[in-house]
Amino acid sequence: MPQDTLTITDNRTGQSYTLPVENGTIRAMDLRKIKTGPEDFGLMTYDPAFMNTASCRSAITYIDGDLGILRYRGYPIDVLAERCTYLEVAALLLFGELPTADQLKNWVHDITHHTMLHETTKKFMEGFRDSAHPMAMLVSSVAALSSVYPESKNIHDPATRLLQIKRLVGKMPSIAAMSYRHIYGFPYIYPDNDLSYTENFMNMLWKMVEPKYLANPVLARALDILFILHADHEQNCSTNAMRAVGSSHSDPYLATAAAAAALSGPLHGGANEEVLRMLDEIGSKDKVPAYIKKIKEGKGRLMGFGHRVYKNYDPRAKIIKRTADSVFEVTGRNAKLEIALELERIALEDEYFVQRKLYPNVDFYSGIIYQAMGFKPEMFTVLFAIPRTVGWLAQWEELLQDAEQKIARPRQVFSGYEARHVVSMQERSGQLVR
Ligand code: CMC
Repeated sequence: MPQDTLTITDNRTGQSYTLPVENGTIRAMDLRKIKTGPEDFGLMTYDPAFMNTASCRSAITYIDGDLGILRYRGYPIDVLAERCTYLEVAALLLFGELPTADQLKNWVHDITHHTMLHETTKKFMEGFRDSAHPMAMLVSSVAALSSVYPESKNIHDPATRLLQIKRLVGKMPSIAAMSYRHIYGFPYIYPDNDLSYTENFMNMLWKMVEPKYLANPVLARALDILFILHADHEQNCSTNAMRAVGSSHSDPYLATAAAAAALSGPLHGGANEEVLRMLDEIGSKDKVPAYIKKIKEGKGRLMGFGHRVYKNYDPRAKIIKRTADSVFEVTGRNAKLEIALELERIALEDEYFVQRKLYPNVDFYSGIIYQAMGFKPEMFTVLFAIPRTVGWLAQWEELLQDAEQKIARPRQVFSGYEARHVVSMQERSGQLVR
């Protein structure tokens, strides 16, 4: 018997089956042959929320949740955050290797020259109420780009795909900035090609009447690091949405809009905004124990804590904490940091959190830095979506080149009625008054 196999005995029939084990997995389709009889559909797995199902092979991002390891294409996240720029990392995620000087120059040039938005985008934007959430505006505007670039439907052509990838990476900060300025009624600012990716984003957000916007270099670099940390995170909820929608061969704008919609939820990328609200609700350091007590009683969740994969400190949270020091040197310390540090200290010693292996995740400290840098809380999830776009697109490329992938279509365990007869309206109404 080969060693890399699994033998299953079906106690319903007494039959044994030997299945190959590859990369620590068995193929769910191999279970289909386990049947009680010819009429039986065959065995399936039931895995709500994909707790134990690998949906793809991927060579992009590696996470060891127990050891707190995160690598993009083999490079540890802390080294990339220290030594690279966001656009360098974006190229790494997409093309598999760190770019050479020439490749990077061309890549930066291409992204910079795709930051302009078609003028109609302004018109979509103007249609939103000024109370609209920037994530709602971002999701809708990204979807609307599908109408601006109808050739994007040609997803089987690598050159067309690459062009849309450049457009999306380039335009995401422009859309995000426009959504912000829309809320406050500020005129939209056009991109400035002299500036780096993050400096240009800051320019489009905050330029007022000055002839040239100059970002603080420490803050621009901190934002670049934050973008690196958020660039990809293997098969998370939004990436799964990107792959699921992409698997039906939708164009990349629509698939990215779906991924961004998934990101917006408070259990995923929306958590950073919720962390700030939670810190506001707590109000001061001395109220932290009472807040933790409330959480342990099942009244809400500690936002920015816990992770499906990390059962150790999220390595991104560690880097964010370090980055915070350089930001606070420029901006002064954010009062909420004291509350956050106290929350972390108490939670990490508390049996409830220790037992469940709940540690701070990427969203716990990012909002505090963003706020210190001058971002409004409603922009926090948008700040996650901008850099994650490249991760979604790298995963989309990988999906389309994977011969094993097909349209994503899970099975279900049906729990409804057996076949029923439709009764007449009279009988149904009679039943109601009875
Ligand atoms: N506060 C209090 N209890 C928690 C928390 C939390 N933040 N997270 C999990 N738990 C408890 C949960 O109640 C459960 O306890 P019990 O076993 O007694 O029922 C146990 O821990 C396991 O939780 P789970 O809900 O089964 O875990 P999950 O893997 O389905 O959820 C999560 C992961 C991230 C959705 C969850 O930890 C959470 O809701 N955290 C708060 C929201 C958050 O910070 N999200 C950002 C995630 S990281 C970045 C990103 O993905 O965008």
